[in-house]
Amino acid sequence: DKGGHKHFMAKEIAEQPHVIAEAIRHYLPVEEDAVRLPGEGVDFSGVERLTMVACGTAYYACVTAKYWFEQIARLPVEVDIASEFRYREPPIPGKTLALFVSQSGETADTLAALRYCQEKADKILSVVNVPESSIARESDLALPIFAGPEIGVASTKAFTCQLTVLLALALKAACDRGHLSPEEMSEYATAIRGLPNVLSSALEQNEAIRLAAQKVSEARDVLFLGRGLMFPLALEGALKLKEISYIHAEAYASGELKHGPIALIDKNMPVVVLTPRDSLFDKSVSNMQEVLARKGKVLMISDQDGIDEAGDDVWCAIRMPRVKEALSPILYAIPAQLLAYHTAVAKGTDVDQPRNLAKSVTVE
Ligand code: F6R
Repeated sequence: DKGGHKHFMAKEIAEQPHVIAEAIRHYLPVEEDAVRLPGEGVDFSGVERLTMVACGTAYYACVTAKYWFEQIARLPVEVDIASEFRYREPPIPGKTLALFVSQSGETADTLAALRYCQEKADKILSVVNVPESSIARESDLALPIFAGPEIGVASTKAFTCQLTVLLALALKAACDRGHLSPEEMSEYATAIRGLPNVLSSALEQNEAIRLAAQKVSEARDVLFLGRGLMFPLALEGALKLKEISYIHAEAYASGELKHGPIALIDKNMPVVVLTPRDSLFDKSVSNMQEVLARKGKVLMISDQDGIDEAGDDVWCAIRMPRVKEALSPILYAIPAQLLAYHTAVAKGTDVDQPRNLAKSVTVE
């Protein structure tokens, strides 16, 4: 049942305020400004290293979480793609926690990577959407994301729910390790509880994004740029666009632009710049200016302040609400998903069943 939407993907994008609220209810119950984990939970105070492993969109959720664990909890993190990790057979030093992220919980490479870590890591955690899945069953602690069934092959609501749970986990780590005061924790809790409303107002930009997507649908290649927390989201935006619209898309950390990809910029190249008015805004805008100077078509996704300050010469601007900086990837996932969705619809591709792709990759 598509609930009145044309595609499951559209329905699942629209469901995000609701499913995220469900995840928040479980991990940040209203009675207390502390993170609550299921079962025995996990204590991060003696943990020295976190290794996160996944594939595809779930991997980008891990890359995002690396920024959170390192910046907020001061915990060193390694992130890897499951198909690389498992065959590299990396050493796992003591006091390492291993964390696997998977919507389906059945991805063959992720499961093999988990089995490799059994007996080696101190504890195996997983962040999954299907609690009965193999990955959930074989971990010491499985953290459900409460996204509900995801039918569209392109992952959307599972991604933002994974991010929400990973952020909660990073906050728990920060509290356990003495890097977050009770006041700071309650500031985060308040901001996170506000996310469902913030996501709803982001969804109101649907029409503006649809219009931008009409133009993007004529491109052969698209670049995505982001700094800091917007870098993994740029990777996710590019993946979403290529998998459902079949337009070649690539993402770079904005600071990498001048190390190669700037050679691609000309008047035919749309460049999606993800840049909330945050602590890295000025750096990100200076990279955006380099694109504009070479006549690249900039699609700027920012907030009102960011657009007022730097949006004058852009091809188009999409306005997002303001959120606490750490929460921006969860919010900016919405325009990235809608852009891919409307581009695919404009091109007439099969949004829910893109060619060559399967929902669950249970073979290597
Ligand atoms: C992209 C997408 C895939 C999956 C990947 C991992 O939209 O859906 O990249 O994220 O195949 O799948 P799970 O999370 O089930 O392990």
